[in-house]
Amino acid sequence: MADHPLVLGIETSCDETGVGIVRGSTLLADALASSVDEHARFGGVVPEVASRAHLEAMVPTIERAAATAGVRLADLDAVAVTAGPGLAGALLVGVAAAKAIAYGLGKPLYGVNHLAAHVAVDRLEHGDLPVPSIAMLVSGGHSSLLLVEDLATGVQPLGATLDDAAGEAFDKVARLLGLPFPGGPEIDRTARTGDPAYVTFPRGLTGHRDLAEHRFDFSFAGLKTAVARWVEARERDGEPVPLADVAASFQEAVVDVLTRKALAACQELAVDTLLIGGGVAANSRLRALAAERCSRAGVHLRIPRPGLCTDNGAMVAALGVALVQAGVAPTALDLGADSGLPVTTVAV
Ligand code: KG4
Ligand code: ZN
Repeated sequence: MADHPLVLGIETSCDETGVGIVRGSTLLADALASSVDEHARFGGVVPEVASRAHLEAMVPTIERAAATAGVRLADLDAVAVTAGPGLAGALLVGVAAAKAIAYGLGKPLYGVNHLAAHVAVDRLEHGDLPVPSIAMLVSGGHSSLLLVEDLATGVQPLGATLDDAAGEAFDKVARLLGLPFPGGPEIDRTARTGDPAYVTFPRGLTGHRDLAEHRFDFSFAGLKTAVARWVEARERDGEPVPLADVAASFQEAVVDVLTRKALAACQELAVDTLLIGGGVAANSRLRALAAERCSRAGVHLRIPRPGLCTDNGAMVAALGVALVQAGVAPTALDLGADSGLPVTTVAV
């Protein structure tokens, strides 16, 4: 088993119940059940609804993953589970399930960090990540720039959002434009026919003074307010709101700042690999602009396919494999969920 461990990964930090099975760097199954539709009418994820949905989906999703992979749980070398960060109640469902499997079958258990798992998933598609690398994780819950020195042990935060996460900004702006939740894919689609230079929306934390103090941090709350004010002014004047142009201009402001800061980190730390992950990494304009700017800067860009960017169980299994391969000690069976788990803790 040592070289190609067979690991089951469970992810329940938000609204996706993900169960992945990975052997070495081969993805065998990636079963997903989402409660996103149940949250749509609230315009955001409702923690209690997510927890209950995880509870209902857990066993069928594990069974589906095992059937797809064609493996028996008894054949596993280890079980990995997201221990944090995320919604406490939601995390607890995954942690309880993983503990039950590990205890019942006598398998090693690994409580892992959700952000490190977003980084680890890329090895399933592009092979081992060269280190050091810069990782930018952008989703509904997080926007972070990380220095990855060793996937199993050494992930250092360089910066994070001071207010809204990038995906949260997409979701909030979509809502004020009358688009359904989750807003990211809707804005992506709507923006395709729009002019990204129609409105020059603010680029948060890029001013001279901000850069001195918050070089690698992000802020999207001001941008969201600027879009709201712009739309209100149009409506007050009785003029129609050009949806596609506003969506494209907003999206451009987000992806411009994200790619600028990620590349500044690569340049300042003399790192030539940039990995982008998290739900917002599915954004077509972010992918295109990152590719353009990385190629100009001589930085090698890695972005997993969209299905592996959003939350899933495969990413947890992929990190579990890396931990087993690195000889990291398993987690004790009294593992708890830690909604605020720091990114520096790759495995609990
Ligand atoms: O990683 P993820 O599935 O869950 C969290 O950990 O949050 O990310 C979900 C977020 C949502 O905010 C969603 O609107 C955003 O990712 N998202 C996108 C796109 N697809 C998903 N944002 C921009 N463009 C997209 N194509
Ligand atoms: Zn995530």
